[in-house]
Amino acid sequence: TTTPVKVAVTGAAGQIGYSLLFRLASGALLGPDTPIQLRLLEITPALKTLEGVVMELDDCAFPTLAGVEIGDDPNVIFDGVNHALLVGARPRGPGMERGDLLEANGGIFAPQGKALNAHAASDVRVTITGNPANTNALIAMSNAPDIPTERFSALTRLDHNRAISQLAAKLGVPVTEIKKMTIWGNHSATQYPDLFHAEVGGRNAAEAVGDQDWLANTFIPTVAKRGAAIIEARGSSSAASAASATIDHARTWIDGTAEGDWTSMSVLSDGSYGVPEGLISSFPVTVSDGQWSIVQGLEIDDFSRAKIDASTAELAEEREAVKGLGLI
Ligand code: NAI
Repeated sequence: TTTPVKVAVTGAAGQIGYSLLFRLASGALLGPDTPIQLRLLEITPALKTLEGVVMELDDCAFPTLAGVEIGDDPNVIFDGVNHALLVGARPRGPGMERGDLLEANGGIFAPQGKALNAHAASDVRVTITGNPANTNALIAMSNAPDIPTERFSALTRLDHNRAISQLAAKLGVPVTEIKKMTIWGNHSATQYPDLFHAEVGGRNAAEAVGDQDWLANTFIPTVAKRGAAIIEARGSSSAASAASATIDHARTWIDGTAEGDWTSMSVLSDGSYGVPEGLISSFPVTVSDGQWSIVQGLEIDDFSRAKIDASTAELAEEREAVKGLGLI
């Protein structure tokens, strides 16, 4: 028998958790032949709800689910984990300033980083979905000095998938025709979904669209503000699509990107494309043997330059704020 792969999920009793756990347990991340052990972290008041979710997981009798541990102590839940999906975060409440939001999330992601540092498996890979995802990832990474920095990444795959879907709909092609989509910058309204390097059926996507007005004034804002549009329509924030993207992200990190394609991941900047070193920013990346690398050598025109700079300036401000709070 194969040893189960240990996957931690935080915020497991939340909306995204309710979609994510069942897909993980059914083999969507590791395939049908690899047993998975779920290690689920919640805050104490949410443990009862989580027990109910675990009852439902039991009731699915998933062949690949080799066990479930739940608890409110990251030092216990992160023990031996190979993948950590950090979903639970503090949402912005009424009247909360950005500084308050960053501080509240620092109170979550700094101790979780420390707990991962002390207890996770030596091959741990950490995906941060909880918002503000990029800066939360920076906080977790900075509090885990013994884990290689390249093992931390934040989710911009949902934005990437949204961009693919919008472009496919515009051109009337299947999503499988679209390659080399890129989200640059922050997972926020300043993000830059880039069609100048994307391809549709082998052809440049911006040329295939042939409509700079649509690209600048419809496509980019539609992708960047999709989260708000979902809230408006559904009455709560995107959850199933966020869970699906979290699995896509973690699975690409394991399986790699296809030849002739890349994905978008928020990873530690080495200064590529003028993105300040040390920020966790979204880039075009290829993945091979479990290691990501930033795609090099893309030409960035003035339009793209301004968009990338605006989003990374926001990331730099967030970094200054959490530095000021002593979180990194
Ligand atoms: P939710 O509010 O339904 O669930 C969050 C859960 O996290 C709650 O059950 C809460 O008790 C738990 N939690 C809070 N602090 C915790 C801690 N210290 N340890 C463990 N659990 C803790 O929220 P939902 O809809 O599931 O979203 C989760 C996060 O994902 C939010 O921050 C949301 O903004 C973010 N998100 C990110 C996306 C992305 O593309 N990066 C897309 C959609 C959502």
